[in-house]
Amino acid sequence: MAILGHLLSGPDETERAARSLGGLLRPGDAIGLVGELGAGKTRFVRGLARGLALPDRVRVTSPTFTILNQLRGGRLPLYHADLYRIESAAELDQIGLEDLWGEAGVLAVEWSDRFAVLPPDHLVVRLRVTGEEERMLDAEGRGPRAASLAAEWARLLRA
Ligand SMILES: Nc1ncnc2c1ncn2[C@@H]1O[C@H](COP(=O)(O)OP(=O)(O)OP(=O)(O)O)[C@@H](O)[C@H]1O
Ligand SMILES: [Mg+2]
Repeated sequence: MAILGHLLSGPDETERAARSLGGLLRPGDAIGLVGELGAGKTRFVRGLARGLALPDRVRVTSPTFTILNQLRGGRLPLYHADLYRIESAAELDQIGLEDLWGEAGVLAVEWSDRFAVLPPDHLVVRLRVTGEEERMLDAEGRGPRAASLAAEWARLLRA
């Protein structure tokens, strides 16, 4: 089950949609975030953090330069990565994202279409810029867990 063309009419709505997904996440879940510069991927992760009940004092900032931020203090640890500046598989190896696959946390990766770093079962979230404040959300589960996550999330988005 996929989510197709769900309208997000402003940053708050993007954050709210992400927050509802965050509430559904379980240890080991992985989310790939795809979309152009400024599409709202980091904004989305901020919503995930709230949905995972990370305290407000835990700032969700862009890991463009740090590549990987580990955010703790919530219901589950959130590993937030950004592959934008990664140029080679060797560079990627140093980050060791695959070591996080088995961890009891949630992995959220911006620019996940640049390198295959997610476990086979993961949710792909695509944000498309359709206006200054408007985004279109598509999401698709790759694998059984992500597919059921997408279905549950779709129900929440419709409600
Ligand atoms: N509906 C919307 N959803 C999300 N962000 C929006 C929306 N409308 C406007 N924006 C603005 O777009 C920008 C999105 O920035 P953000 O850093 O989240 O993008 P990004 O996809 O992570 O970019 P990058 O590829 O540089 O990491 C913010 O300034 C935000 O306020
Ligand atoms: Mg970003």
